[in-house]
Amino acid sequence: MQHADHYLLAGVMGFPIMHSRSPAIHNHWLAEYGLLGHYAPLAVKPEGLEKALRALHPLGYAGVNLTIPLKELALPLLDEIDPVARAIGAVNCVVVEKNGRLRGVNYDAFGFVASLQEAAPGWRADAGPAVVLGAGGAARAVLAGLIGEGVKEIRVANRTLERAQKLAAEFGPSVHALDWDQREDALSGAALLVNTTSMGMLGQPPLDIALGGLPASALVTDIVYAPLETDLLAQARHRGLKGVDGLGMLLHQARPAFRDWFGPMPQVTPELRRKIEASL
Ligand code: ATR
Repeated sequence: MQHADHYLLAGVMGFPIMHSRSPAIHNHWLAEYGLLGHYAPLAVKPEGLEKALRALHPLGYAGVNLTIPLKELALPLLDEIDPVARAIGAVNCVVVEKNGRLRGVNYDAFGFVASLQEAAPGWRADAGPAVVLGAGGAARAVLAGLIGEGVKEIRVANRTLERAQKLAAEFGPSVHALDWDQREDALSGAALLVNTTSMGMLGQPPLDIALGGLPASALVTDIVYAPLETDLLAQARHRGLKGVDGLGMLLHQARPAFRDWFGPMPQVTPELRRKIEASL
């Protein structure tokens, strides 16, 4: 955390970067706290990442978020990696220490769980098995979050079975790899369904799954937030199941990053949510 006796700086590195909603989120909080500073979109390509990261301290940056395609590439370039980021295999937030050391953390798992808890305050890790669709970077963050909360059984279904099996081997005995064809059978008795695939995103085909096998008490969450209501969430709503959209994860992962850089732990207010929704 930096002292507010100078202009506060942070940003998000990625390429492309101008679509990122992170500047709107963090600049909203800077203004809310009356802090003088700015959070900037920083167009950084993989080949420029190391130099860009090492420029943060001399420029007076408190830190940056990292997004596609830099999250995994940053691991070997930083001085210290938090265990959660190590388990996920990606860094979504870099904190610049006073002495210039760069610490990599990952708040996507936190964001996923916090969003779930905000949208469904009664959610409990011991409610039953979770089904996770997909086995990419987003799935890794969701697994870290669910295991961290103590979920005992997680069924991961992925188009490429080997990727799901790799996650099961890495994340331990609570994770079971399933073939993509088994995704509907996997819903039996599940308390939570999470889509981490890119299906359902604007411009992508909808996720092809019938939710009939889910218990009526199950939660359905999508990490996709554009559109806010995916076909999956619409189906959940029609079936009377509680749905959680992907915007909450984006908003909540930003909170501890802001705290690490600037001090106060900000909140996701309805006003902030409306502002970001309007920009989607
Ligand atoms: P991210 O890091 O955002 O999670 P990713 O690593 O590209 O992105 O993962 C995307 C996920 O969506 C993967 O699980 C992918 O399945 P594969 O591992 O088989 O590639 C899944 N996915 C993408 N398009 C899909 C499709 N048409 N049908 C099923 N799964 C799909």
